[in-house]
Amino acid sequence: MVNPFKIAVIPGDGIGPEVIAEGVKVLKYIESVDENISFDFEYFPWGCEYYVQHGKMMDDDGIERLQQFDAIYLGAVGYPGVPDHISLWDLLLRIRKSFDQYVNVRPIKLLNGAPTVLKDVTPDDINMLVIRENSEGEYAGAGDRLFQGKPHEVALQTGVFSRKGTERIIRYAFNIAQKENRSLTSISKANALNYSMVFWDEVFEEISKEYPDVETHSYLVDAASMFFVMDPKRFEVVVTSNLFGDIITDLGAGITGGMGLAAGANLNPERNFPSMFEPIHGSAPDIAGKQIANPLATLWSASQMLEFFGQAEWAEKVLTLIEKMLVDKTVLTPDLGGNASTSEVGDHMVELLKQL
Ligand code: NAI
Ligand code: MG
Repeated sequence: MVNPFKIAVIPGDGIGPEVIAEGVKVLKYIESVDENISFDFEYFPWGCEYYVQHGKMMDDDGIERLQQFDAIYLGAVGYPGVPDHISLWDLLLRIRKSFDQYVNVRPIKLLNGAPTVLKDVTPDDINMLVIRENSEGEYAGAGDRLFQGKPHEVALQTGVFSRKGTERIIRYAFNIAQKENRSLTSISKANALNYSMVFWDEVFEEISKEYPDVETHSYLVDAASMFFVMDPKRFEVVVTSNLFGDIITDLGAGITGGMGLAAGANLNPERNFPSMFEPIHGSAPDIAGKQIANPLATLWSASQMLEFFGQAEWAEKVLTLIEKMLVDKTVLTPDLGGNASTSEVGDHMVELLKQL
Protein backbone atom coordinates (compact mmCIF):
# COMPACT_ATOMS: atom_id res chain seq x y z
CA MET A 1 0.00 0.00 0.00
CA VAL A 2 1.27 3.46 -0.89
CA ASN A 3 1.04 6.27 1.57
CA PRO A 4 -2.22 8.11 0.80
CA PHE A 5 -2.39 11.84 0.19
CA LYS A 6 -4.81 13.14 2.78
CA ILE A 7 -7.30 15.58 1.31
CA ALA A 8 -9.80 17.58 3.35
CA VAL A 9 -12.78 18.34 1.12
CA ILE A 10 -14.83 21.45 1.88
CA PRO A 11 -17.52 21.63 -0.82
CA GLY A 12 -19.03 24.78 0.75
CA ASP A 13 -22.05 26.63 -0.61
CA GLY A 14 -24.00 27.16 -3.81
CA ILE A 15 -22.31 25.52 -6.78
CA GLY A 16 -19.35 24.51 -4.56
CA PRO A 17 -20.63 20.96 -3.90
CA GLU A 18 -21.61 20.51 -7.57
CA VAL A 19 -18.18 21.34 -8.97
CA ILE A 20 -16.22 19.63 -6.18
CA ALA A 21 -18.09 16.37 -6.85
CA GLU A 22 -16.59 16.35 -10.35
CA GLY A 23 -13.07 17.06 -9.10
CA VAL A 24 -13.30 14.20 -6.61
CA LYS A 25 -14.71 11.94 -9.33
CA VAL A 26 -11.64 12.55 -11.48
CA LEU A 27 -9.19 12.13 -8.60
CA LYS A 28 -10.87 8.85 -7.63
CA TYR A 29 -10.53 7.61 -11.18
CA ILE A 30 -6.81 8.45 -11.17
CA GLU A 31 -6.33 6.63 -7.89
CA SER A 32 -8.18 3.60 -9.26
CA VAL A 33 -5.86 3.19 -12.24
CA ASP A 34 -2.51 4.23 -10.74
CA GLU A 35 -1.31 1.84 -8.09
CA ASN A 36 1.24 4.39 -6.90
CA ILE A 37 -1.43 6.92 -5.97
CA SER A 38 -3.94 6.79 -3.20
CA PHE A 39 -6.12 9.51 -1.73
CA ASP A 40 -7.88 9.69 1.61
CA PHE A 41 -10.83 12.06 1.35
CA GLU A 42 -12.54 13.45 4.42
CA TYR A 43 -15.51 15.78 3.99
CA PHE A 44 -16.27 18.83 6.12
CA PRO A 45 -19.78 20.32 5.97
CA TRP A 46 -18.66 23.87 6.73
CA GLY A 47 -20.03 26.95 5.06
CA CYS A 48 -23.07 29.21 5.19
CA GLU A 49 -25.66 26.48 5.75
CA TYR A 50 -23.56 25.31 8.69
CA TYR A 51 -23.47 28.90 9.90
CA VAL A 52 -27.24 29.21 9.81
CA GLN A 53 -27.57 26.02 11.89
CA HIS A 54 -24.64 26.42 14.28
CA GLY A 55 -23.85 30.12 14.32
CA LYS A 56 -20.35 29.52 13.01
CA MET A 57 -18.76 28.87 9.65
CA MET A 58 -16.59 25.99 10.90
CA ASP A 59 -16.12 23.99 14.10
CA ASP A 60 -14.07 25.61 16.85
CA ASP A 61 -11.35 23.00 16.45
CA GLY A 62 -11.61 23.19 12.65
CA ILE A 63 -8.12 24.52 12.06
CA GLU A 64 -6.59 21.86 14.33
CA ARG A 65 -8.44 19.14 12.48
CA LEU A 66 -7.46 20.42 9.05
CA GLN A 67 -3.84 20.67 10.07
CA GLN A 68 -3.22 16.93 9.67
CA PHE A 69 -4.13 16.95 5.96
CA ASP A 70 -1.78 17.31 3.00
CA ALA A 71 -4.21 19.50 1.10
CA ILE A 72 -7.61 21.13 1.27
CA TYR A 73 -9.93 21.01 -1.75
CA LEU A 74 -12.46 23.81 -1.52
CA GLY A 75 -15.52 24.62 -3.62
CA ALA A 76 -16.75 28.08 -2.69
CA VAL A 77 -18.28 29.81 0.28
CA GLY A 78 -20.85 32.56 0.51
CA TYR A 79 -24.61 32.67 0.33
CA PRO A 80 -27.32 35.32 0.45
CA GLY A 81 -28.45 35.71 4.05
CA VAL A 82 -24.98 35.40 5.56
CA PRO A 83 -22.92 38.58 5.25
CA ASP A 84 -20.03 38.01 2.81
CA HIS A 85 -17.45 39.41 5.20
CA ILE A 86 -18.41 36.72 7.73
CA SER A 87 -18.30 33.82 5.29
CA LEU A 88 -15.02 35.03 3.85
CA TRP A 89 -13.22 35.90 7.08
CA ASP A 90 -14.44 33.01 9.24
CA LEU A 91 -13.62 30.26 6.80
CA LEU A 92 -11.58 31.04 3.70
CA LEU A 93 -9.34 33.76 5.09
CA ARG A 94 -9.06 31.93 8.40
CA ILE A 95 -7.66 28.89 6.61
CA ARG A 96 -5.34 30.93 4.40
CA LYS A 97 -3.96 32.83 7.38
CA SER A 98 -3.78 30.00 9.94
CA PHE A 99 -1.88 27.83 7.48
CA ASP A 100 0.35 30.64 6.28
CA GLN A 101 -0.71 30.03 2.69
CA TYR A 102 1.11 33.14 1.64
CA VAL A 103 1.36 32.31 -2.04
CA ASN A 104 -1.69 32.40 -4.28
CA VAL A 105 -0.85 31.00 -7.71
CA ARG A 106 -3.34 31.84 -10.44
CA PRO A 107 -2.61 30.83 -14.01
CA ILE A 108 -4.05 33.31 -16.50
CA LYS A 109 -3.68 31.26 -19.60
CA LEU A 110 -5.81 31.16 -22.70
CA LEU A 111 -6.24 27.44 -23.32
CA ASN A 112 -6.65 26.16 -26.86
CA GLY A 113 -10.31 26.25 -27.75
CA ALA A 114 -11.26 28.57 -24.88
CA PRO A 115 -13.34 31.57 -25.85
CA THR A 116 -11.92 35.03 -25.32
CA VAL A 117 -13.61 38.39 -25.48
CA LEU A 118 -10.45 39.89 -26.93
CA LYS A 119 -10.07 40.25 -30.66
CA ASP A 120 -7.11 38.87 -32.59
CA VAL A 121 -5.45 37.05 -29.70
CA THR A 122 -4.25 33.45 -29.68
CA PRO A 123 -3.20 31.18 -26.81
CA ASP A 124 0.38 32.39 -27.40
CA ASP A 125 -0.66 35.89 -26.44
CA ILE A 126 -2.10 35.12 -23.00
CA ASN A 127 0.06 32.89 -20.88
CA MET A 128 0.79 34.38 -17.49
CA LEU A 129 1.25 33.10 -14.01
CA VAL A 130 0.04 35.57 -11.41
CA ILE A 131 1.65 35.19 -7.99
CA ARG A 132 -0.52 37.03 -5.49
CA GLU A 133 0.53 37.83 -1.92
CA ASN A 134 -2.01 35.96 0.16
CA SER A 135 -1.34 36.60 3.83
CA GLU A 136 -1.27 40.32 4.57
CA GLY A 137 -1.33 43.58 2.61
CA GLU A 138 -4.71 45.16 2.07
CA TYR A 139 -6.47 42.03 3.42
CA ALA A 140 -4.62 42.00 6.74
CA GLY A 141 -7.87 42.83 8.52
CA ALA A 142 -6.36 45.75 10.42
CA GLY A 143 -8.72 48.63 11.01
CA ASP A 144 -11.67 49.89 12.98
CA ARG A 145 -15.15 51.37 12.76
CA LEU A 146 -15.47 54.47 14.88
CA PHE A 147 -18.66 56.33 15.84
CA GLN A 148 -20.84 53.77 14.04
CA GLY A 149 -24.03 55.22 12.68
CA LYS A 150 -23.08 58.77 13.65
CA PRO A 151 -22.69 61.54 11.09
CA HIS A 152 -18.98 61.67 11.91
CA GLU A 153 -18.51 57.91 11.48
CA VAL A 154 -15.06 56.80 10.33
CA ALA A 155 -13.96 53.46 8.87
CA LEU A 156 -10.27 52.58 8.85
CA GLN A 157 -8.71 49.76 6.82
CA THR A 158 -4.97 49.62 7.11
CA GLY A 159 -2.72 47.79 4.68
CA VAL A 160 0.00 45.79 6.39
CA PHE A 161 3.17 45.13 4.42
CA SER A 162 5.90 43.49 6.49
CA ARG A 163 9.44 43.10 5.22
CA LYS A 164 9.24 39.35 5.76
CA GLY A 165 5.90 39.07 3.96
CA THR A 166 6.92 41.26 1.05
CA GLU A 167 10.33 39.69 0.57
CA ARG A 168 9.10 36.11 0.64
CA ILE A 169 6.41 36.57 -2.00
CA ILE A 170 8.68 38.53 -4.33
CA ARG A 171 11.46 35.98 -3.89
CA TYR A 172 9.03 33.15 -4.59
CA ALA A 173 8.05 34.84 -7.85
CA PHE A 174 11.67 35.45 -8.84
CA ASN A 175 12.47 31.79 -8.28
CA ILE A 176 9.65 30.73 -10.60
CA ALA A 177 10.59 33.27 -13.26
CA GLN A 178 14.20 32.13 -13.11
CA LYS A 179 13.32 28.45 -13.27
CA GLU A 180 10.96 28.98 -16.20
CA ASN A 181 13.23 31.48 -17.91
CA ARG A 182 10.46 34.07 -18.13
CA SER A 183 10.23 37.75 -17.26
CA LEU A 184 8.82 38.96 -13.96
CA THR A 185 6.49 41.94 -13.69
CA SER A 186 5.68 43.62 -10.40
CA ILE A 187 2.31 45.37 -10.18
CA SER A 188 1.91 48.05 -7.53
CA LYS A 189 0.76 51.63 -7.06
CA ALA A 190 3.52 53.69 -5.49
CA ASN A 191 2.30 57.02 -6.79
CA ALA A 192 -0.86 56.95 -4.68
CA LEU A 193 -0.03 54.46 -1.92
CA ASN A 194 2.96 56.39 -0.75
CA TYR A 195 4.00 54.13 2.13
CA SER A 196 3.09 50.54 1.34
CA MET A 197 3.71 50.52 -2.37
CA VAL A 198 6.85 52.64 -2.26
CA PHE A 199 8.14 49.98 0.15
CA TRP A 200 6.95 47.17 -2.17
CA ASP A 201 8.79 48.70 -5.11
CA GLU A 202 11.97 49.10 -3.07
CA VAL A 203 11.89 45.46 -2.00
CA PHE A 204 11.26 44.35 -5.58
CA GLU A 205 14.26 46.40 -6.70
CA GLU A 206 16.46 44.99 -3.90
CA ILE A 207 15.57 41.37 -4.58
CA SER A 208 15.95 41.77 -8.33
CA LYS A 209 19.70 42.22 -7.68
CA GLU A 210 19.83 38.60 -6.50
CA TYR A 211 18.43 37.51 -9.87
CA PRO A 212 20.42 39.41 -12.51
CA ASP A 213 19.35 36.89 -15.17
CA VAL A 214 15.62 37.59 -14.73
CA GLU A 215 14.18 40.34 -16.91
CA THR A 216 11.96 42.59 -14.78
CA HIS A 217 9.20 45.12 -15.37
CA SER A 218 7.17 47.23 -13.00
CA TYR A 219 3.69 48.64 -13.66
CA LEU A 220 1.15 50.70 -11.81
CA VAL A 221 -1.98 48.60 -11.32
CA ASP A 222 -4.20 50.90 -13.36
CA ALA A 223 -1.89 50.81 -16.37
CA ALA A 224 -1.41 47.06 -15.92
CA SER A 225 -5.19 46.56 -16.05
CA MET A 226 -5.29 48.39 -19.35
CA PHE A 227 -2.43 46.30 -20.76
CA PHE A 228 -4.05 43.04 -19.56
CA VAL A 229 -6.74 43.87 -22.12
CA MET A 230 -4.79 45.76 -24.80
CA ASP A 231 -1.55 43.76 -24.83
CA PRO A 232 -1.59 40.76 -22.48
CA LYS A 233 1.45 39.28 -24.17
CA ARG A 234 3.78 41.56 -22.27
CA PHE A 235 3.06 39.71 -18.99
CA GLU A 236 4.70 36.39 -18.13
CA VAL A 237 5.21 35.85 -14.41
CA VAL A 238 3.48 38.58 -12.40
CA VAL A 239 3.84 39.35 -8.70
CA THR A 240 1.44 41.61 -6.86
CA SER A 241 -0.28 42.39 -3.58
CA ASN A 242 -3.33 40.71 -2.10
CA LEU A 243 -6.00 43.19 -3.27
CA PHE A 244 -4.49 43.94 -6.66
CA GLY A 245 -3.97 40.24 -7.30
CA ASP A 246 -7.58 39.51 -6.41
CA ILE A 247 -8.83 42.08 -8.89
CA ILE A 248 -6.47 41.54 -11.81
CA THR A 249 -6.97 37.78 -11.74
CA ASP A 250 -10.72 38.24 -12.16
CA LEU A 251 -9.86 40.54 -15.05
CA GLY A 252 -7.54 37.79 -16.27
CA ALA A 253 -10.37 35.26 -15.96
CA GLY A 254 -12.50 37.61 -18.03
CA ILE A 255 -10.10 37.49 -20.97
CA THR A 256 -9.47 33.73 -20.81
CA GLY A 257 -12.96 32.26 -20.92
CA GLY A 258 -14.62 33.42 -17.72
CA MET A 259 -14.96 32.33 -14.12
CA GLY A 260 -15.73 28.73 -15.04
CA LEU A 261 -12.15 28.32 -16.22
CA ALA A 262 -10.15 30.11 -13.52
CA ALA A 263 -8.21 28.10 -10.93
CA GLY A 264 -6.07 29.01 -7.97
CA ALA A 265 -3.75 27.39 -5.46
CA ASN A 266 -3.09 28.75 -1.97
CA LEU A 267 0.32 27.45 -1.05
CA ASN A 268 2.38 27.14 2.07
CA PRO A 269 5.60 26.46 0.14
CA GLU A 270 7.46 25.18 3.22
CA ARG A 271 4.77 22.52 3.62
CA ASN A 272 4.51 23.10 7.35
CA PHE A 273 0.75 23.30 6.84
CA PRO A 274 -1.73 22.04 4.25
CA SER A 275 -2.11 24.02 1.04
CA MET A 276 -5.54 24.73 -0.43
CA PHE A 277 -6.80 24.30 -3.99
CA GLU A 278 -9.95 25.97 -5.29
CA PRO A 279 -11.63 27.46 -8.31
CA ILE A 280 -11.45 31.23 -7.97
CA HIS A 281 -15.14 31.76 -8.63
CA GLY A 282 -17.67 32.14 -5.84
CA SER A 283 -20.74 30.10 -4.96
CA ALA A 284 -22.76 31.55 -7.86
CA PRO A 285 -26.18 31.52 -6.13
CA ASP A 286 -27.76 32.60 -9.42
CA ILE A 287 -27.09 29.20 -10.99
CA ALA A 288 -26.76 26.94 -7.92
CA GLY A 289 -28.62 23.63 -7.83
CA LYS A 290 -29.23 23.56 -11.58
CA GLN A 291 -26.27 21.37 -12.57
CA ILE A 292 -25.10 23.97 -15.08
CA ALA A 293 -21.99 25.21 -13.23
CA ASN A 294 -18.79 24.70 -15.15
CA PRO A 295 -16.51 22.31 -13.22
CA LEU A 296 -13.43 22.88 -15.42
CA ALA A 297 -11.89 25.46 -13.07
CA THR A 298 -12.27 22.96 -10.24
CA LEU A 299 -10.66 20.27 -12.39
CA TRP A 300 -7.82 22.66 -13.19
CA SER A 301 -7.29 23.21 -9.47
CA ALA A 302 -7.21 19.42 -9.03
CA SER A 303 -4.44 19.47 -11.64
CA GLN A 304 -2.59 22.05 -9.54
CA MET A 305 -3.03 19.81 -6.50
CA LEU A 306 -1.64 16.80 -8.38
CA GLU A 307 1.38 18.87 -9.36
CA PHE A 308 1.84 19.93 -5.75
CA PHE A 309 1.78 16.24 -4.78
CA GLY A 310 4.62 15.60 -7.21
CA GLN A 311 2.32 13.95 -9.77
CA ALA A 312 3.31 16.18 -12.68
CA GLU A 313 2.29 13.63 -15.31
CA TRP A 314 -1.29 13.36 -14.09
CA ALA A 315 -1.43 17.12 -13.61
CA GLU A 316 -0.42 17.60 -17.23
CA LYS A 317 -2.90 14.97 -18.46
CA VAL A 318 -5.84 16.65 -16.75
CA LEU A 319 -4.92 20.08 -18.10
CA THR A 320 -4.37 18.72 -21.61
CA LEU A 321 -7.78 17.06 -21.53
CA ILE A 322 -9.47 20.26 -20.32
CA GLU A 323 -7.94 21.82 -23.42
CA LYS A 324 -9.16 18.95 -25.59
CA MET A 325 -12.69 19.37 -24.28
CA LEU A 326 -12.55 23.07 -25.12
CA VAL A 327 -11.34 22.33 -28.64
CA ASP A 328 -13.86 19.51 -29.26
CA LYS A 329 -16.75 21.58 -27.88
CA THR A 330 -18.96 18.49 -27.61
CA VAL A 331 -19.37 18.34 -23.82
CA LEU A 332 -19.36 21.83 -22.30
CA THR A 333 -21.60 23.71 -19.87
CA PRO A 334 -23.83 26.61 -21.01
CA ASP A 335 -21.36 29.34 -19.95
CA LEU A 336 -19.08 27.99 -22.71
CA GLY A 337 -21.90 27.65 -25.21
CA GLY A 338 -22.64 23.97 -24.61
CA ASN A 339 -25.60 22.18 -23.11
CA ALA A 340 -23.92 19.56 -20.95
CA SER A 341 -24.55 19.31 -17.22
CA THR A 342 -21.88 19.74 -14.55
CA SER A 343 -21.66 16.00 -13.97
CA GLU A 344 -21.57 15.17 -17.68
CA VAL A 345 -18.42 17.27 -17.96
CA GLY A 346 -16.82 15.31 -15.10
CA ASP A 347 -17.92 12.00 -16.63
CA HIS A 348 -16.47 13.02 -19.96
CA MET A 349 -13.12 13.87 -18.37
CA VAL A 350 -13.04 10.37 -16.86
CA GLU A 351 -13.90 8.88 -20.29
CA LEU A 352 -11.07 10.81 -21.92
CA LEU A 353 -8.63 9.70 -19.21
CA LYS A 354 -9.67 6.10 -19.89
CA GLN A 355 -8.88 6.54 -23.58
CA LEU A 356 -5.33 7.79 -22.95
P1 NAI B 1 -19.37 34.29 -8.41
O1 NAI B 1 -18.01 33.92 -8.88
O2 NAI B 1 -20.04 33.35 -7.51
O3 NAI B 1 -20.31 34.55 -9.69
C1 NAI B 1 -20.05 35.55 -10.66
C2 NAI B 1 -20.77 35.19 -11.97
O4 NAI B 1 -20.03 34.13 -12.62
C3 NAI B 1 -22.18 34.68 -11.76
O5 NAI B 1 -22.99 35.12 -12.81
C4 NAI B 1 -22.03 33.18 -11.82
O6 NAI B 1 -23.18 32.51 -12.28
C5 NAI B 1 -20.87 33.00 -12.78
N1 NAI B 1 -20.07 31.80 -12.46
C6 NAI B 1 -19.22 31.66 -11.40
N2 NAI B 1 -18.70 30.43 -11.40
C7 NAI B 1 -19.21 29.78 -12.45
C8 NAI B 1 -19.06 28.45 -12.95
N3 NAI B 1 -18.25 27.55 -12.38
N4 NAI B 1 -19.74 28.11 -14.06
C9 NAI B 1 -20.55 28.99 -14.66
N5 NAI B 1 -20.74 30.26 -14.24
C10 NAI B 1 -20.08 30.65 -13.14
O7 NAI B 1 -19.22 35.72 -7.71
P2 NAI B 1 -20.32 36.60 -6.91
O8 NAI B 1 -21.64 36.44 -7.55
O9 NAI B 1 -19.72 37.92 -6.78
O10 NAI B 1 -20.35 35.97 -5.46
C11 NAI B 1 -21.31 35.02 -5.03
C12 NAI B 1 -20.95 34.55 -3.63
O11 NAI B 1 -19.69 33.86 -3.65
C13 NAI B 1 -20.79 35.67 -2.63
O12 NAI B 1 -21.35 35.26 -1.41
C14 NAI B 1 -19.28 35.85 -2.51
O13 NAI B 1 -18.86 36.35 -1.28
C15 NAI B 1 -18.82 34.43 -2.69
N6 NAI B 1 -17.45 34.30 -3.20
C16 NAI B 1 -16.70 33.27 -2.70
C17 NAI B 1 -15.44 33.02 -3.18
C18 NAI B 1 -14.71 31.84 -2.66
O14 NAI B 1 -15.25 31.04 -1.91
N7 NAI B 1 -13.48 31.63 -3.03
C19 NAI B 1 -14.82 33.85 -4.22
C20 NAI B 1 -15.73 34.88 -4.73
C21 NAI B 1 -16.97 35.08 -4.22
MG1 MG C 1 -11.69 37.14 -5.77
